[in-house]
Amino acid sequence: MADVEGLKREAGITACGFVRSGMSLGLGTGSTVRYTIIEIGRMISEDGIDVVGVPTSESTRELAESLGIPLIPISEVNRLDLTIDGADEFDPEFSLIKGGGGALTREKEVAMISDSMIVVADDRKKVPVLGEFDLPIEVSPNKWKEVSEAISQSSGIESTLRGGEHSPYVTDNDGFILDCKFGPTITEPSILEAQLLSIDGVVQVGLFVGLCDAVVMATDSGVETIVNPVGRLH
Ligand code: A5P
Repeated sequence: MADVEGLKREAGITACGFVRSGMSLGLGTGSTVRYTIIEIGRMISEDGIDVVGVPTSESTRELAESLGIPLIPISEVNRLDLTIDGADEFDPEFSLIKGGGGALTREKEVAMISDSMIVVADDRKKVPVLGEFDLPIEVSPNKWKEVSEAISQSSGIESTLRGGEHSPYVTDNDGFILDCKFGPTITEPSILEAQLLSIDGVVQVGLFVGLCDAVVMATDSGVETIVNPVGRLH
């Protein structure tokens, strides 16, 4: 059995092969892309590349700052060259579930203004159909019960308030997260995304459709880069 942490590291570093000096970069959140960010810091300090990053979470901002990566807030950019981020699941069409780390809203904002998006993941994240991983949905704190009921009524799906009612997890945007138990049934993620986004109180849905252009995937036998044949890197 390979060392999963070591393979995550390898995937995170391999993805930096797509980084060029002069680029503006969306910097994702999570334990895999953490290695990407550390490598970008090394490329700045040792190789002298010149990049600027937009962090997708406060934890990523702190990490990037500690590494000397120049940062700009998302409010000051309307386009990025490349985003590198993790994922909780990806399917054969390169649709993603994200938000296990609670940063889905900023992650999607950054991905949507990027010319391309690369996901770094290990092969446990590769699934035939999305949904085994509970789908994270960011909601307004004062609407979480109504949203949970609406999802239950419309699709019979149970959802859990992350952290529990007495100490809910609070996102960087001061939202709450509902983790929704769809099970591996999400065959039409763009339709489900639109349905969920139409519910009053929903801030963002952790389905990323049509955004991922390649997955740099760590496996027991090494790292594989899978390019989306209909993506922007093809
Ligand atoms: C953060 O909100 C998530 O979308 C992460 O990108 C995702 O959970 C993957 O993180 P890991 O690389 O830690 O599994």
